[in-house]
Amino acid sequence: PRRVTLRTLREKYRRGQPISMVTAYDYPSAVHVDEAGIDMLLVGDSVAMVVHGHDTTLPVTMDEMLTHCKAVARGARRAFLVGDMPFGSVEISPEHAVRSAIRMMKEGSMDAVKIEGGFSSRAKSVRAVVEAGIAVMGHVGLTPQSISVLGGFRPAAQSASEALRVVKEAKALEAAGCFSLVLECVPALVAAAVTREVDIPTIGIGAGGHTSGQVLVYHDLLGMMQHPHHAKVTPKFCKQYGAVGSAIQEALGAYHQEVVAGAFPSEAFSPYGIAADEAEQLL
Ligand code: KIV
Ligand code: NA
Repeated sequence: PRRVTLRTLREKYRRGQPISMVTAYDYPSAVHVDEAGIDMLLVGDSVAMVVHGHDTTLPVTMDEMLTHCKAVARGARRAFLVGDMPFGSVEISPEHAVRSAIRMMKEGSMDAVKIEGGFSSRAKSVRAVVEAGIAVMGHVGLTPQSISVLGGFRPAAQSASEALRVVKEAKALEAAGCFSLVLECVPALVAAAVTREVDIPTIGIGAGGHTSGQVLVYHDLLGMMQHPHHAKVTPKFCKQYGAVGSAIQEALGAYHQEVVAGAFPSEAFSPYGIAADEAEQLL
């Protein structure tokens, strides 16, 4: 299958064809996402929450991200691969951002990076990374890496002035060279306004239906974590396209029962034999 490139994405955008994106964090999830024909695959820093079990995205390190990126790159043959720059990998200076982004490409085998945040200092870093020859996806609206100043995960752009700020940030990131923008948890009307104001594809999550594409978190869309005593709730905007969590739980439960009952492995799952004369010596 032909690889999705920036040109493929631009062509889709130009034709008004919606772009699909899903996160993946390891080899099997990358294979699944890739085989589904999804255009873009994001190795998101959401890995901190859905894979490592943290409450925020802040703790995941560059080295951890790279481990996930490498595994994903081995599983994906077709999708365009975007590596999320983790908290602490871009903020210090544009040079710092370039150094981190180069690692994402060189060690992580990504096709592009995503840099979160709309501050003007972030746009400077975006420009520096693009000038280093690396395609950058921006990310505005709810920016989970700024949870410390936001005070929690809440929808963004809830007032006209905040909405205008998001539009301004989006335009600044486009001017800095972003090839696309994630819009997270903003009202559909605001996402539509941003999409109208920029000439690059907007990829929404919890941002309504008027963006150029959509992204969801793998575990959330598959319905993986459904355990009431675990605090990992599926966000309101996420449609669950499967109940993979209950399928996993059922399979594990059945295996446990069969081992306990001595029913597994049966004859059918005891494939290794030994020659009759060798067996004689054992008996
Ligand atoms: O880390 C992530 O999964 C993301 C998406 C929500 C866009 O940044
Ligand atoms: Na992210």
